[in-house]
Amino acid sequence: MTSVLITGAHGQVGSELAAAAHARGWAVTALGSADLDITDAAAVDAAVTAFSQDSASDPDTGARNRAVIINAAAHTAVDLAETDQERAYAVNERGPGLLAAAASRHDVHLVHLSTDYVFPGSADRPYEPTDATGPRSVYGASKLAGERAVHAADPTAVVVRTAWVWGATGGNFVKTMAALERSRPTVDVVDDQRGTPSYAADLAAGLLELADSAWLADAAASGRVLHLTNAGETTWFGFARAIFAALGADPERVRPTTSAAFVRPAPRPAYSVLSGQAWAAAGLAPLRPWDEALAAGITDHPGAFAG
Ligand SMILES: NC(=O)c1ccc[n+]([C@@H]2O[C@H](COP(=O)([O-])OP(=O)(O)OC[C@H]3O[C@@H](n4cnc5c(N)ncnc54)[C@H](OP(=O)(O)O)[C@@H]3O)[C@@H](O)[C@H]2O)c1
Repeated sequence: MTSVLITGAHGQVGSELAAAAHARGWAVTALGSADLDITDAAAVDAAVTAFSQDSASDPDTGARNRAVIINAAAHTAVDLAETDQERAYAVNERGPGLLAAAASRHDVHLVHLSTDYVFPGSADRPYEPTDATGPRSVYGASKLAGERAVHAADPTAVVVRTAWVWGATGGNFVKTMAALERSRPTVDVVDDQRGTPSYAADLAAGLLELADSAWLADAAASGRVLHLTNAGETTWFGFARAIFAALGADPERVRPTTSAAFVRPAPRPAYSVLSGQAWAAAGLAPLRPWDEALAAGITDHPGAFAG
């Protein structure tokens, strides 16, 4: 039996993790921000202590359970982080560091989520986990600081970077495009930022596979970082056209524009495709192509994108 503690459990990825872990019959402790503020050291210690005690052994067999914390909590408001640095670092660096220290003290595995925005975006091939980082935004810098805080406190923890997350829960690009499709004749979307849209439900399935894997349990491992996205790549413009098509709207209503014409408070990496080679080398299944996931997600959750 695997026991999982999910932090940030009401977010896009956290909610899918909780649902998928329940569906697998795992023992699930799903804590939203109101249940556990990961920046509160005493609360983190209490939650991890209780989790480790509850998951110590299977009540039926007496066998020791595998206990895994998956940290899906984050300050993800990328533009807001530019002016709210204190909060961004509290949630994205200090909180993960506290979780990692508690995980290490209680001999519990930790999987910590991070982002493509740790990279500068100047590459011309998919980023490997070992490639040099160089965040261009406060959000990216705070997430990189979080990766380092996690590994400093718990060298066996696994950092999983993902990108361009969307799903049925919470606000995201697919919902924004669906709303614009209903309200505007045309929409201009940047065509000079490349990445990989990643469906939260697929990420959750991959993360649970990792949580259950022999690879995770390697006690001699240190400083591990993996990349997990759906397969393939596109631009935000390409993604928007695919969303219109999946909604049954004319994709030609989406027009290409540039980042220079659409300036935002936080700069975005121009290229942030993440290589899945390390994920596959760990014996874990790659996720399906992003456009297949898009079609499936919209079909599976017709109400979520209907406005
Ligand atoms: N969204 C993306 O496009 C994207 C891209 C790359 C990587 N990622 C990474 O993937 C992970 C999951 O992202 P997501 O899209 O699922 O994010 P999300 O939907 O914004 O969810 C994050 C959750 O964290 C919670 N949270 C915020 N501060 C907290 C605190 N102090 N203590 C506990 N919980 C707190 C939030 O709760 P409240 O709403 O109540 O504050 C929210 O439910 C994050 O590590 C993120 O950095 C996301």
